[in-house]
Amino acid sequence: MKSYLDISKEKLDALRQRDDYYILAFESSCDETAVSVTKGREIVSNIVSSQIEIHRRFGGVVPEIASRNHALQIDSLTKEALDAASVGLKDISAVAVTYGAGLLGALLVGVSYAKALAYGASLPLIAVNHIKGHVAANFISSPRLQPPFIALLASGGHTYILAVRTFDDMEVLGSTLDDAVGEAFDKAARVLGLPYPGGPEIERAAKCGKPVYKLPRAFKGDKRLDFSFSGLKTALINTVHGMKQRGEEFSVADVACSFQTEAVGVLVDHTAEAVRRTGIKTVALAGGVGANGALREALSLRGAVEGFDVLLPPKSLCTDNAAMIGVAAYEMIRLGAAPAPLSLDADPSL
Ligand code: KG4
Ligand code: ZN
Repeated sequence: MKSYLDISKEKLDALRQRDDYYILAFESSCDETAVSVTKGREIVSNIVSSQIEIHRRFGGVVPEIASRNHALQIDSLTKEALDAASVGLKDISAVAVTYGAGLLGALLVGVSYAKALAYGASLPLIAVNHIKGHVAANFISSPRLQPPFIALLASGGHTYILAVRTFDDMEVLGSTLDDAVGEAFDKAARVLGLPYPGGPEIERAAKCGKPVYKLPRAFKGDKRLDFSFSGLKTALINTVHGMKQRGEEFSVADVACSFQTEAVGVLVDHTAEAVRRTGIKTVALAGGVGANGALREALSLRGAVEGFDVLLPPKSLCTDNAAMIGVAAYEMIRLGAAPAPLSLDADPSL
């Protein structure tokens, strides 16, 4: 009798040259439970259930609470995603799931559910790296996009400048040595008394402010394309505490704007430098911080001035969703990816 893995390999091989089949995809790495049906680079349905309201009163994501809520939601969201796509499980050809990086317990919910479903329906399972998923969001909004391109991935857990040579060959040109940029936005917001998640709150506050506080840049004059957002966060904390201790009045909007200006500035400067160094003239934005209007504007402007194309996925595809996981799986299948075995485990630090 053929094993599940043998059947999966045969089924995947039959899909490699096709783009007309449905993938059912799951994403549960942080505080969004997301299920999607995709076909090639198209979204057929995309259901995202955010737990933001649940975690807000704690000022950040509580991992245990996140996992429990994923477990409560995932089954009904799967039905919702299939219904919204007007398909049944019998119409699905492959299952895709984020297996890392992220919160262990949260990832395990998606991985266990996807494994059980794939095995039960005798479907091949594709294990997707969350970061590759974010990059793949650009294939949805720019269906004709082909590597090579530079990806600026800015999220709550990661900050990378990647040279995407093919979808399975991504070179890291720069990364953060400490906090991710989204994490820095969240911490800056907390210091300013703004709720979680901090990114959109800082953006909102910054609209009424001016960048009057000069915050330092790490590795100034250094040739590296790496980032240090912990230094920026500490400088912000020191600035705010200093003013409070001296009893000075200050505008939250001005501090937020100063922080955002510096965070966006370093992302854009390093990305433009990556374009110069590689000669690759297309930049794709990805990750939750990619929803930031100031970043989108500054990157587009720099592209216009320095002659590179900037791809901006809609904001809903920058933050966590399962459609990007489905499309990443489709690209991986085309490139010959092997099916995941039933021993697939979550990998929080992938
Ligand atoms: O990609 P994502 O949804 O989850 C991770 O993989 O981390 O990113 C979430 C991060 C959070 O830190 C959030 O504050 C940030 O993205 N974010 C923003 C904006 N919207 C979300 N940061 C700046 N400006 C925004 N508009
Ligand atoms: Zn993410």
